[in-house]
Amino acid sequence: MIKVAFYDAKAYDKPSFERYGALHDVSFHFFETKLNEDTVALAKGSDAVCVFVNDTVNEKVIDTLHSFGVKLIALRSAGYNNVDVRSAFGKVHVVHVPSYSPYAVAEHAIALLLTSIRRIHKAYNRTREFNFSLNGLTGFDLHGKTVGVVGTGKIGRIFIDFCRGFGMRVIAYDRFPAEGEGIEYVSQDELFEKSDIISLHCPLTDETHHLIDKRAIEKMKKGVVIINTSRGALIDAEALLEGIKDRKIGAACLDVYEEEADIFFEDRSGHILNDELLSRLISMPNVIITSHQAFLTEEALNNIAETTVNNIKSCFENDGICDNELCYRCGKIEKCRKDRKDKCF
Ligand code: NAI
Repeated sequence: MIKVAFYDAKAYDKPSFERYGALHDVSFHFFETKLNEDTVALAKGSDAVCVFVNDTVNEKVIDTLHSFGVKLIALRSAGYNNVDVRSAFGKVHVVHVPSYSPYAVAEHAIALLLTSIRRIHKAYNRTREFNFSLNGLTGFDLHGKTVGVVGTGKIGRIFIDFCRGFGMRVIAYDRFPAEGEGIEYVSQDELFEKSDIISLHCPLTDETHHLIDKRAIEKMKKGVVIINTSRGALIDAEALLEGIKDRKIGAACLDVYEEEADIFFEDRSGHILNDELLSRLISMPNVIITSHQAFLTEEALNNIAETTVNNIKSCFENDGICDNELCYRCGKIEKCRKDRKDKCF
């Protein structure tokens, strides 16, 4: 039996992980707390840890896991900006779930967009109060509008297909453009200048940190709608708030927020929110915030659990090679051993 300490466990995680774990001799010990320097001791005696987007897997945590004999960090997410992959090399293997349902995220981005521009969130509240007035609910047609997509990977491309279905013109920016997909690529600045709607689908890296900042917002069209279902720190939230207050930004649809780690995923309704910026954003009539919910579909949860259990199995069995291993040397000049059909280290 492979023993796995499962951090930041939520009620919706357990059924699928217990089901797939039982089928493959992987036993999960669920902890509600997040992984960080204070909670890493809970992993003592485990073969692996299973973590999510807001667990802190820095060098100190990795060294402690290594000293406990933990062999694997299994991310149950696609994004891995919270794991110091470089520090992990040679100590603890890292795997992730590169794709579990890109449809879930792309569909959520569309749900946010339609809700926002057709004021569905306001109409829902009104009719529950028997207020059938239409004043203030005027939206706009998506047909004929230009959408700028940053990041044309798995999620971005599905989002593009949806937008084309609405009759929108799609332009895109990607550091590594996809060939043969019929996508009209433009520079990042051109995308900011020409788009009526901008949707972010790239990973958070040093390069994409605050991709949307004051300078970028200045270039945008008045009334632009910004959608972020990727990672909070792609947007400088202070600059976003200023853009909204200046009426430059028409609407913001956010599933992620830079400082979400200690706030999102939890019921904070009985507490005073100690984040002025988030409170101010939430108070804006043209901002919709969901709590990192884009991935949350039945299909995605099953795929996440199945892939994570398979990742864990392949790391501990046979040759230990896992296709979903994250290794900072893979494909680089200073190569790992994967080229030789071996484990990365
Ligand atoms: P992907 O890896 O298939 O696509 C990412 C794309 O971004 C690639 O085409 C890549 O070339 C491009 N890219 C990389 N650096 C860039 C840069 N500097 N500028 C512009 N484009 C750049 O990833 P996928 O599956 O489409 O996911 C995208 C992001 O969505 C993830 O990185 C993750 O942060 C986020 N995500 C959010 C979820 C949620 O629940 N809100 C769930 C799953 C993913």
